[in-house]
Amino acid sequence: MNAILTQIESIKQAFAQDLQKVQTLKEFDDLKVSFLGKKSSLQALLAGMKDLGADERREVGPALQEAKTGIEQALEVARQAFTERKAKAAIDKELYFDVTAKRPGGVRGHIHPYSQAIEEIEDIFMSMGYEVLDGPELETDFYNFTALNIPQDHPARDMYDTFWTNKKSMLMRTHTSPVQVRSMESKELPLAGIVPGRVYRHEAVDATHEIQFLQCEGFFIDKNVTVSHLFATAQTFLKQLFKKDELDIRIRPGFFPFVEPGFEIDMRCPFCSKGCSVCKKSTWMEVFPGGMIHPNVLRAGGIDPDVYSGFAFGFGLSRLVMLKYGIDDIRHLYGGKLKFLEQF
Ligand code: PHE
Repeated sequence: MNAILTQIESIKQAFAQDLQKVQTLKEFDDLKVSFLGKKSSLQALLAGMKDLGADERREVGPALQEAKTGIEQALEVARQAFTERKAKAAIDKELYFDVTAKRPGGVRGHIHPYSQAIEEIEDIFMSMGYEVLDGPELETDFYNFTALNIPQDHPARDMYDTFWTNKKSMLMRTHTSPVQVRSMESKELPLAGIVPGRVYRHEAVDATHEIQFLQCEGFFIDKNVTVSHLFATAQTFLKQLFKKDELDIRIRPGFFPFVEPGFEIDMRCPFCSKGCSVCKKSTWMEVFPGGMIHPNVLRAGGIDPDVYSGFAFGFGLSRLVMLKYGIDDIRHLYGGKLKFLEQF
């Protein structure tokens, strides 16, 4: 066969092969340039026609022409088909979507560590027959102090850095104890209640102090209630909170005007046996104060202290949450930082 015809055949074959590989419109353009452009082998052959003899030209001419139009048409058809396929895929994508497909990177909320702890504490006390009570955060001088055996001008008021309001005798409650007296007034005896709630103190904020934090009051009033009821309740609660079968507690004397006698309750460090950084190497940890409700407080709540007695305790819920979860800075708890909260 004529050498030029062989060359035309191989150009056609190369084109057919390259056409298969085209993926984008730009590649169609590039393909067109390399097979039909000025520098293409086909153009070179066409240009060389004038140097051929008449016979050869008659043989090669139509073949070259046919190759050229063949390539042009094939390119056009393939390009058209490609554009249509693309458009259809775009429409399909909008029309048909997979409703079962998993959305990547979804954000899911969960319960704040504070709320988790409150729920857990409520469950523990409810299993012992306590009811969950609450009272106002904007409190009167009477319930926050006077009724709790802290009369006007009594130095014990200094224990509480109080936020007073510009309404006379109204303050942001400094502890949850006012709910003791409020409940005595409104509830029947025997009375067993806990009061998880927000309290306010005018303090400098640091890693262990916030102007607003959570406390939980607990009290039980009935005939013949004694300190041993208080200790057993405290111990049962702590065992369940820290998930321990055995957990020793000990008591030290402590002063609060609204209890007599008053105590500080300590527990064995639930995190170690030999002393660690949490218990400051002592194996004991102070957990919360409590005591027998002072007769004056019972009286303020309309209860006869000669017939009834009761115990009360009040713990810093914020502190217990920090202990339980190993949080070292109280400011994290209200910071609202997702990086922190997502760990719980
Ligand atoms: N109300 C006390 C405080 O906030 C704690 C407490 C409650 C102490 C009940 C004894 C009994 O400091």
